[in-house]
Amino acid sequence: MATEELQPIQGMADIAPPEIKIWQRIESCVRELFHCYGFGEIRTPILEKSFVFLRSLGETTDVVQKEMYLFDDRGGRQIVVRPEGTASVMRFVALKGQEAQDARLYYIGPMFRCERPQAGRKRQFHQVGAEAIGPALAAADAEMIAMQVHLLRNLGLRNFNIHVNTRGLPEDRAVVTAGLRAALEPHIPNLCDDCRRRIDTNILRVLDCKNETCKKIAATLPPVTTFMAETSRKYLDDVLRLLKLLEIDAVVNPALIRGLDYYIHTVWEITHPALGSQDALAGGGRYRITLAEKTVEGVGFAMGFERLITAVQNDNPAFAAGEAQPMIWLVSFGQPAFEDNLKLLQTLRFRGVRCGMDLAGRSMKAQMRAADRSGATAVVIRGDNEMASGTFQFKDMKTGVQIALTLPELLENLNPQVRIAPLPSPVDGAKFQ
Ligand code: HAM
Repeated sequence: MATEELQPIQGMADIAPPEIKIWQRIESCVRELFHCYGFGEIRTPILEKSFVFLRSLGETTDVVQKEMYLFDDRGGRQIVVRPEGTASVMRFVALKGQEAQDARLYYIGPMFRCERPQAGRKRQFHQVGAEAIGPALAAADAEMIAMQVHLLRNLGLRNFNIHVNTRGLPEDRAVVTAGLRAALEPHIPNLCDDCRRRIDTNILRVLDCKNETCKKIAATLPPVTTFMAETSRKYLDDVLRLLKLLEIDAVVNPALIRGLDYYIHTVWEITHPALGSQDALAGGGRYRITLAEKTVEGVGFAMGFERLITAVQNDNPAFAAGEAQPMIWLVSFGQPAFEDNLKLLQTLRFRGVRCGMDLAGRSMKAQMRAADRSGATAVVIRGDNEMASGTFQFKDMKTGVQIALTLPELLENLNPQVRIAPLPSPVDGAKFQ
């Protein structure tokens, strides 16, 4: 038999050693962090009755119309191989009723969409997702985005962008549809075939059409918030204000629609430049859906695991390659710096950073020799100047580059998962000294 025959179905892949190791490392970071935020794991079946997805994702969405694996089982029931995790979690919550009212659930597992396979787009892919059940609260949405950002930072990602928008409330839809329809009227002849159809079926989707002409037209339209009620606009403003409070940089993207119908209020997407044309690392939002006469509300997100791996390989190669955690050596000039470094040593060890220092109060030269002996990849140097300015000199032992960091910057740099964030090359580094 030709070996080609033995390949998995196109768009699906075996995940085996040694590659499986990065999956396992990321999974343990994910689990650890989600437990911190009070989330417990849920494993729902891979197969669901078709109404679970048809009702929640929406009959006119791309996932339902073009991408779902749908079949009749032997009992003549229509079955769907799950294309995402949120609808299954909603079904579970609807089933449990009161008991699951404030559930915080996360999942890691395979999802299936019969898309045209291409780089970054698979037919079997994996998602890490989290759902916090509960009524609309701007703080809950902000917390969810913050948790996601926390996870990405823990994995050492730096170059991601957070796009936020609102879908408003179902009560806004008639006015939004009428407003968009009026604004699009003069452009109808120039829209692509899909968008001409979308005007009647799902007008919001015109805003995120990938066709260049449609994109240009969409850019001239007033933002959807113009047509929404004041309460919906205020909800978005509250979320943005809270994100700012939590020091999370998010930009409002009026073209962000998210292709699933269950969303209300906040929607967001996180993109990463290393992902190329399929640059969506994650998507999320607040939702409300009625299944078997039970309404479920919540907020959540899902990240593509394969895309997450690509981003980690790009931004944090040492972690991706499974390199051992480096040793950091603390070097002190003078007694006050020595004592403060003792405290820093403890703080860093509490945070899981592997570090050491010379406890005998020896000369700078002797301390640097000890650093070498320990195999330290970086040293943190503190003397009177640093004590006065509240900074730390961080020296990369391999390149010799040294930069001044504040305590938050130092802690960020010494995040145990991040290993050591790459420092600029010696030439670039000159300006830091
Ligand atoms: P989604 O945007 O359809 O949202 O998918 C979330 C993420 O899954 C995407 O950002 C992408 O990283 C990954 N993904 C999607 N399709 C593929 C594919 N064909 N190949 C590789 N990766 C893919 C949802 O699924 C919602 N359930 C998110 C959510 C949770 N909203 C609220 N809670």
